[in-house]
Amino acid sequence: SSPCVLVTGGAGYIGSHVLHALTDAGIPAVTIDNLSTGRRRAVPGAVPLIEGDIGDASLLERTIREHRVDAVMHFAGSIVVPESVSNPLAYYRNNTVNSLTLLDTCVRLGVGNVVFSSTAAVYGSPERVPIDEETPTVPINPYGASKLMTERMLRDAGAAHGVRSVILRYFNVAGADPEGRTGQATPVATHLIKVACQALLGRRPALSIFGTDYPTPDGTCIRDYIHVSDLADAHVLALLHLRRGGESLVLNCGYGGGASVHEVVEALERVSGERVPATLAPRRPGDPPQLVAVADRIRERLGWVPKHDRLDDIVRSALVWERSLDHPAP
Ligand code: UFG
Repeated sequence: SSPCVLVTGGAGYIGSHVLHALTDAGIPAVTIDNLSTGRRRAVPGAVPLIEGDIGDASLLERTIREHRVDAVMHFAGSIVVPESVSNPLAYYRNNTVNSLTLLDTCVRLGVGNVVFSSTAAVYGSPERVPIDEETPTVPINPYGASKLMTERMLRDAGAAHGVRSVILRYFNVAGADPEGRTGQATPVATHLIKVACQALLGRRPALSIFGTDYPTPDGTCIRDYIHVSDLADAHVLALLHLRRGGESLVLNCGYGGGASVHEVVEALERVSGERVPATLAPRRPGDPPQLVAVADRIRERLGWVPKHDRLDDIVRSALVWERSLDHPAP
């Protein structure tokens, strides 16, 4: 039978989109998820879901052996930046220590291909935008630091043990599966597009626009929003690259363009024909004015061609998904 990819965190937002992309491509997968934030029904029916923790080395070992795993895609982790500031050690445990256990198990069992979910947060608040992959990594919060440590482990394990990896540094991931199979499900969201959709639908009082005095054209922060389905395609290409014997890569995942908070709100109002209730609020601590990727390398090295790179498509899919949460599957 064909080799299988182990996806950690496959019941979560990005992991579940990738499981659907793998299934669509006919690539066998198995997932381990502790369902702390993920949802069972986000996992495609054809993919075995093993409920458990990736800090559990014996569970990892059993899964890798039983499913003849040759590659790992590692999504499981904590992602809320302010929470990482108030509870840093939990972030180092869940993101860094558990990644160490996973990587150590891969090395011991000879699993030589790893695709890792990293983040633009490893760049901190860079002096120059757009940001290429050679930009110094100086994270400004424990979340970014916990991810950067895993990047470093992957690099060192690559040199010492031959594990090859594709490190994907995500910019601002948003939107939902165009077929409505999965999306961002957590009700306690902090991400702009999710929160704006909730406000538009009356599920929270209003969107707070954090900071209107930034050194940007309209005074609000600029981000490089990337549709989660394009990001999922990038993961499939990264896996195929590694399985072909391709070399280790560090790749930004963005479109290379930016949208401000005001522009995001306008796009949502345009596609919905409705108002987003919003209030102007002070800056949120730790927000850099602009995070925009230089996104050429991923296109060159993986042949990635985004299909959903219009802001209107991103916010429309996010809103369609948010509406569907009113009618949970039986
Ligand atoms: N924003 C608001 N109101 C909100 C939420 C967000 O105005 O209710 C603003 C933020 O101030 C920021 C922008 O919208 O200017 C985007 O904020 P998000 O919280 O959606 O995303 P971040 O840019 O803070 O962070 C995200 C991920 C990080 C990742 C980073 C990389 O959460 O993990 O993108 O670009 F590192």
